[in-house]
Amino acid sequence: MAYVSENSLHDAINKATTDLFTCAYKNIIKPHFVFNKPPDRSHAQMIGFCKVTRNIPPLMWLLRQMLDYTDPILETSVMGVDFANPFGLSAGLDKDCEMATLLDNAGFGFETVGSTTARPCAGNPRPWFHRLPEYDSMMVHVGLANEGSDKIIAKTEQAWRRTRTMQMSVSIARTNDALVGGIDEGIEDYCVSMRRAAGRTAMVEVNISCPNTKVGEPFNEDPEALDRLFTELDKIDRPQPTLVKMPLNKTWEEFRELVDVLADHNVQGLSIANLQKDRSGMTIPPSWLGGLSGGPCTVESTELIRRVYRDYGDRFAIAGIGGVFTPKQAYEKIRAGSSLVMFVSALMYRGPQQITVLKRGLAELLRRDGFAHVSDAVGVDA
Ligand SMILES: Cc1cc2nc3c(=O)[nH]c(=O)nc-3n(C[C@H](O)[C@H](O)[C@H](O)COP(=O)(O)O)c2cc1C
Repeated sequence: MAYVSENSLHDAINKATTDLFTCAYKNIIKPHFVFNKPPDRSHAQMIGFCKVTRNIPPLMWLLRQMLDYTDPILETSVMGVDFANPFGLSAGLDKDCEMATLLDNAGFGFETVGSTTARPCAGNPRPWFHRLPEYDSMMVHVGLANEGSDKIIAKTEQAWRRTRTMQMSVSIARTNDALVGGIDEGIEDYCVSMRRAAGRTAMVEVNISCPNTKVGEPFNEDPEALDRLFTELDKIDRPQPTLVKMPLNKTWEEFRELVDVLADHNVQGLSIANLQKDRSGMTIPPSWLGGLSGGPCTVESTELIRRVYRDYGDRFAIAGIGGVFTPKQAYEKIRAGSSLVMFVSALMYRGPQQITVLKRGLAELLRRDGFAHVSDAVGVDA
């Protein structure tokens, strides 16, 4: 494979076009086409844009030539899955699997589709989003709206067959609708989606930490309920690795109890972490419901990753998530113990070229510190 990093002309073009995209997104696209309307509309518009442009192959080719930075130092193998780079789109932005072609051509290592649920789900009443630009954050109150895992997993499998290098993961959660029942009903809901996902994606993420549902988060509030859930999920034969999307707002003792349960089950990875529920120190209208993404997650999630890596070593691969906007923040998550890094808010606040900014910057930091591969830096600060 010819790497962009090893071809000085392609490298220079990639750097120049990335800088151009950064400038265009900041000064033209974001103020005049994205942030000039309510976030719910911008999100729908962005998905519409992906649906149209993915059918224009010359545009996808151009996107790839301009943005996709490849570099052997970023290649990595985690939980038996090979990645062109450790960066992925975190769950929530591409709920219904419409963005894969664009993300693949822009050079993402992987994406997490969903969260999706056993039954199609309308989610919470709108608005789902509020912007908090002063905190680089989005307030999210979607409540797991999606087309249902039957359809979404089929779409994800199809997309995975078509991507050039990008790996596809699917996040499964419990349906958030009027039919929701007790713990047993919840377990069966997850099992339905897991049976559908078995063998059809590169990874599966089990979301036990959605902060915006009618029944709360019973599977992270009681380790026994979590144990019962994974005892049933263990019975579902599946070749791909399983990650668990963890909550951010727990004491270390509570968090440890959950991780101890997961350590006894067929779980290979932890995605750390979901949205921030703590609003202290921030000025946010009380009527705005939901959890916070971006800036308010950065420090706490990195600290959690460090503690998990320190105590559990390589029992789990860690996918670090929360407020990653810069290569330095990604590098901190890797040095704290993350083998993979995911983000959502950076895409909304900085633009689609941020994947290239992160990859180029991370490669530079790794070389500066004498690492031969990204995997060599995992956990060195833990
Ligand atoms: C618009 C939006 C929707 C989200 N929906 C989900 C979801 O369905 N499932 C999930 O596990 N996390 C969801 N999240 C949380 C993200 O996956 C991620 O954990 C969080 O935003 C922190 O990453 P960030 O700071 O890079 O945004 C959502 C986040 C955003 C911004």
